[in-house]
Amino acid sequence: MRVRTAVFPVAGWGTRFLPATKAVPKELLPVLDRPAIQYAMEEAIAAGIERIVLVTSDGKRAIEDHFDAAPDLEAFLEARGDIERLRVVRAVSDMVNLVTVRQKEQLGLGHAVLMARDAVGHESFAVVLPDDLIVSERPALSELIDAHEETHGSVVAVMEIPREDSIRYGVVEIDPDLPATDGGRTIPLRGLIEKPAPADAPSNLGIVGRYVLTPKIFEKLERTAHGVGNEIQLTDAIQALAAEQPIVGRRFSGRRFDVGSPEGWLAANIDLALDHPHYGGPLRTWLNARLTER
Ligand code: UTP
Repeated sequence: MRVRTAVFPVAGWGTRFLPATKAVPKELLPVLDRPAIQYAMEEAIAAGIERIVLVTSDGKRAIEDHFDAAPDLEAFLEARGDIERLRVVRAVSDMVNLVTVRQKEQLGLGHAVLMARDAVGHESFAVVLPDDLIVSERPALSELIDAHEETHGSVVAVMEIPREDSIRYGVVEIDPDLPATDGGRTIPLRGLIEKPAPADAPSNLGIVGRYVLTPKIFEKLERTAHGVGNEIQLTDAIQALAAEQPIVGRRFSGRRFDVGSPEGWLAANIDLALDHPHYGGPLRTWLNARLTER
């Protein structure tokens, strides 16, 4: 069955971006000209996703509002004859069908995904973390969906990370007995471990926030104990699943930015602006002038 549902867990605190995220959900911080979450939403839709399950918490209502109709604003823009902006505003509310579920206590990413169980039903589904903004020609999620259709197992997005960064990622253990496919980009896994110390990291491939999971993950999540950071970790549940079903890592193409951190957010803004037809030229001129001043 085709993957048509994507779970967007957005219930986290966003502590890395305080104080910006004290009153504003980090998912709504703008990257260039739109909220960070809109990039991930556009990626999911381009990958064929039809239903979005948003897992939210207290203080995240504005995310739903962003994807809802805005009749007063639309009437104002229409009266002013600002058709281009009216089109942009309507395109956002026409973008998706949102279902919202609440995570009443922030017990971790695994727990957030478990909250989506009834909304997802008994089918394979995607998980998209909007903190990870991926700039690529082909949606990264499409690559994962193709790998799922090929292997019928669960798929995690992976990328090479410096060994010393392992404490910030889930890290995968490659299965040496099974061949990688699709030019070495789809890699059978033996296991996954959340935030290992560099000496314990089983590879240099870190997990990035795109997954395609079989519904069996919910059974595993129900039985997953609190792990690293005292949180219920999605990585631990996928590790449990690996004992029963194939799990593969997909090395996606494109550039990934962690826009949930100030440094990743800044890099994403500059990266996207440099290639932008409107902002690119002025940014280069300004940057060159600043750099020669130093
Ligand atoms: P993060 O590890 O980025 O945590 O969560 P966070 O709380 O959002 O941000 P920091 O680290 O404090 O700055 C990864 C993803 O899991 C979601 C987050 O919203 C983010 O999309 N999440 C995390 C939940 O939905 N619920 C949780 O209990 C924890």
